[in-house]
Amino acid sequence: MTAVEAGRKAATPLDVARVQADFPILARRVHGQRLVYLDSAASSQKPRAVLDAMARFYETSNANIHRGTYQLAVESTEAYEAARRAVARFVGAPDPRGLVFTKNVTEAINLVAASWGGANLKAGDAVVLTEVEHHANLVPWLMLKDKLGIELRFVPMGEDYTLDLTHLDRLLDGAKLMAFTAMSNVLGTLTPIRRITDAAHAAGALVLVDGAQLVPHVPTDIAALDVDFFGFTGHKMCGPTGIGAMWARPELLEAMPPFLGGGEMIRDVRLDGFTTAEVPTKFEAGTMPFAEAVGLHAAVEYLGALGMDAVREHEVSLTAYALRALKERHGDDITIYGPSEPAMRGGALSFTYKGIHPHDVSQVLDQKGICVRAGHHCAKPLLRRLGVGATTRASFYVYNDESDVDALVEGLSDADDLFSL
Ligand code: ALA
Repeated sequence: MTAVEAGRKAATPLDVARVQADFPILARRVHGQRLVYLDSAASSQKPRAVLDAMARFYETSNANIHRGTYQLAVESTEAYEAARRAVARFVGAPDPRGLVFTKNVTEAINLVAASWGGANLKAGDAVVLTEVEHHANLVPWLMLKDKLGIELRFVPMGEDYTLDLTHLDRLLDGAKLMAFTAMSNVLGTLTPIRRITDAAHAAGALVLVDGAQLVPHVPTDIAALDVDFFGFTGHKMCGPTGIGAMWARPELLEAMPPFLGGGEMIRDVRLDGFTTAEVPTKFEAGTMPFAEAVGLHAAVEYLGALGMDAVREHEVSLTAYALRALKERHGDDITIYGPSEPAMRGGALSFTYKGIHPHDVSQVLDQKGICVRAGHHCAKPLLRRLGVGATTRASFYVYNDESDVDALVEGLSDADDLFSL
């Protein structure tokens, strides 16, 4: 029985051994060692169900979507639109017409910045961000600042690694948009989305949420969050690379100019102009990643069958175990950057260890088959704020268990043996 079949019988708790058996890559060895994959915040591994769904699609129905009228093209188009409906349902999106498929969250935020921002912002208008943003939710707004002269304001991070919302209302005063991550990819901190959204709306600002680190790990209900724009990506949630989404209120999409121009996003084209298709097609120019949409559909079915409550519960308990085990073994030699309370955070755990450079830590761990990310995690302003140039980051997902954490704890001692004076 696969983990999905087991999940249908009993949603909780997660049967991690069964989940592990669903991920073929976990059977391989690295440097002769068991693979301990602790880099799911960068990209998750893929279950057999996703790999099979994509292979089956290519073997039986592959054809471009929304163009041909022959059987294969009809099947392919239906598979793509079924994926849109399933993915929208998975994140609680109120209307699947608002779900635009994109390459990833980076493209999703660039879409909003260029299209909505370009049409609605002018010099002096304020956009509120936070100090903890990934470059994906920073650089597009810095580009708009350079281009239009908009003002950027930042919600600071507090000493406890959560956002300091003391002056939120002042920051939002007169702002046109508040854009923030739902969960920091460095600190793991969960953002109080609804609280910020309500404050932003009360101030007359729209809300954009970067859900890249949230959707794979926490049950997500966009309707309940009441946000205006919500981006997320497939490859961090068991799906393939090359597909993500921006959900936006359909009335906002209707009023926004297109982002990319080209095939399929038009109603009519003449040599002196064009008119656009209905949403969401208006924002899906060119051949879209339709096989990847089929893969993402399989991924949300897989996670749905595991039960997102069970996924979250598993990660809270594994993160609690990791925080405890790392501190017990390494004490003051390890500095963990993020909330110490597991319920306030996800399973992305960044740390520095004994002054050993994170790249060295990562290389020693690699020799033990342990994959972690080391560096600035595409969040350079946050790393500066933390006073470090780089951290090592371990991040957990459905296929990790306490033995993976034990391997990490043990591996750090090896780094100590090798690098400490
Ligand atoms: N955003 C991804 C990360 O945090 C790539 O690693």
